Amino acid sequence: MTINYGHFFMIPVCNHFYGRISQMKHLISTKQFGSAKKLEEIFDLADYYQEHKLSTELKDKIIASLFYEPSTRTRLSFETAALRLGAQVISSENAKQFSSVAKGETLADTIKIISGYADAIILRHYEKGAARKASEISTIPIINAGDGIGEHPTQALLDVYTIKKELGRLDNLHIALVGDLLNGRTVHSLINLLRLSDSNILYLISPEELKLPDHLKVRNKINFIEKEELTNLGKLDVLYMTRIQKERFQIPEEYGKVKNRYHLDVKMMRKMKKNSIVMHPLPRVNEISTEIDNDSRAAYFRQAQNGLYIRMAILRLLLSSARP
Ligand code: NCD
Repeated sequence: MTINYGHFFMIPVCNHFYGRISQMKHLISTKQFGSAKKLEEIFDLADYYQEHKLSTELKDKIIASLFYEPSTRTRLSFETAALRLGAQVISSENAKQFSSVAKGETLADTIKIISGYADAIILRHYEKGAARKASEISTIPIINAGDGIGEHPTQALLDVYTIKKELGRLDNLHIALVGDLLNGRTVHSLINLLRLSDSNILYLISPEELKLPDHLKVRNKINFIEKEELTNLGKLDVLYMTRIQKERFQIPEEYGKVKNRYHLDVKMMRKMKKNSIVMHPLPRVNEISTEIDNDSRAAYFRQAQNGLYIRMAILRLLLSSARP
């Protein structure tokens, strides 16, 4: 089914939404979201796109995806989202090796050039802060699809969307974030969004050497409990597993020491509440046994699917602001 602007503006739930989101030019950090209400508005739009998977709303747009680091879900769901909205896509999926960066071009020059070709850039880069730098140069919206060990805001948006859909709320939750909390950018972004709701308790479960950086432990509206062991599973509403980020280790032996530290299996799942969920941004390496994939509480594949609807909402929102 296709929808046009007229049709869209007739959807009451999204009416108020456009005005406000259109004020955001780039999506660089989850710190840009000042309230849980803003999230609800994005969720409404994502719900809408779950029901209306094809439209021509962005038919006059070209989206560039520029990925300097590997990706499956983020790049392909963004590109699918763009195509479902009627946009066209240009893509450099291995930009570090195959773009002019390999010849010595700077990110700044690349961004300047693509700004003249496309209407938005989805950027994944290996350096923390790269998306922000790109946004200072770009004349078109930049969407941060992961900047090194910095942030991954669109992943966090789809994560909170998934929690809301699965459990019906974003407050008063016991959430365990497990794994590489030092280098895992999804966790860094997610914490900022969980802070927007009241009374959440976060269990930060990581090896000593991969603890969450202190600057992210701001106890504003949120409580942190740091531990090395994954225990008290029965208390949790959300168990958010993450991969140990192998590519961030300088010394392979250091990675070897921690790589299989956490592994969720059927026995552990028996301790979890009936109405709890297991999440993972994916890819998983060995953090979750495939034996639990068919457990209804295993939400990670539904989580990845939600990424498509959230990214449709984000593209629509940012490209409406790019409109002259
Ligand atoms: C994550 C990432 O790239 O940060 N993947 C993703 O986008 N879903 C998590 C990871 O790579 O471990």
